Amino acid sequence: MLPFYIMLFLQLLIPVKSKSVEITRTLKQEGFHRDLETVLSFKLEKEIVEKLTWSCQLLLVENLPSGVYVDVDQLSSLPDNIQVLVDSDVDIEAPEYASPPLLVYIFTNLTSDRSSITLPVHVRYHRPSNVSEYAQILIENPKIYSTCLHLSDYENTEGIGAPCDNQNSSQCLWNRLQVLYNEGKSAISLQVPIGVEQHSLFVGATTLLVTMTGCVILVWKIVKKSVDLQMRKKQL
Ligand SMILES: *[C@@H]1O[C@H](CO)[C@@H](O)[C@H](O)[C@H]1NC(C)=O
Ligand SMILES: *[C@@H]1O[C@H](CO)[C@@H](O)[C@H](O)[C@H]1NC(C)=O
Ligand SMILES: *[C@@H]1O[C@H](CO)[C@@H](O)[C@H](O)[C@H]1NC(C)=O
Repeated sequence: MLPFYIMLFLQLLIPVKSKSVEITRTLKQEGFHRDLETVLSFKLEKEIVEKLTWSCQLLLVENLPSGVYVDVDQLSSLPDNIQVLVDSDVDIEAPEYASPPLLVYIFTNLTSDRSSITLPVHVRYHRPSNVSEYAQILIENPKIYSTCLHLSDYENTEGIGAPCDNQNSSQCLWNRLQVLYNEGKSAISLQVPIGVEQHSLFVGATTLLVTMTGCVILVWKIVKKSVDLQMRKKQL
């Protein structure tokens, strides 16, 4: 057992990592095409903010549930300071119940004490339900990592090996940052309208009725016209 004062001295040598990144998540737009915005604020001293002009990389790892997807073509046209890598092929046609969750890596450079990242997400088609007209989709908070020396006060003890950039040509060691989410929420939720199973018989019957009525009217008109024509020919 080490004497108390030596323990105290050793503790003083270990830097205190007490800062947390404050994060606000919002879903913008309505309907099936949304913008998931993540705003990160750091409390950094002025001289550190000045040093950030050298690249200070951030990595957000999003775990998107099967109810939503990202469109890889659309992601390549995001602003230059945001690069995205998706860990699997995305089938944009597949319904929610036939889709796996997606792991999305978002890379950005921190150039000030605030960073805002917008990821366009799209809602997948959901199976009709007999219980609810809406489906609730929960998007969990992302994990935030950095390789930036200036952010060491924010680092957690946990680190991961992950792609260095969206080219995925090499792996880097990323340090996890401590975060504080808005209102302590662990996820952001969105509600989407879905078909109601009990309505499907009604919808099916109505569709059939409308289609058949259309057909009958059409056939009747065609027959009437040809009969009229024949009558006119006879008259001539
Ligand atoms: C971050 O900065 C580095 C060095 O300037 C650059 O190579 C990289 O493309 C930048 N990353 C992003 C996501 O803009
Ligand atoms: C990155 O590349 C490694 C091997 O080179 C591969 O195992 C991994 O799945 C790739 N990751 C992504 C997100 O594409
Ligand atoms: C709703 O569907 C489930 C399974 O799909 C079924 O077990 C349940 O009885 C249905 N409830 C009603 C009210 O139809």
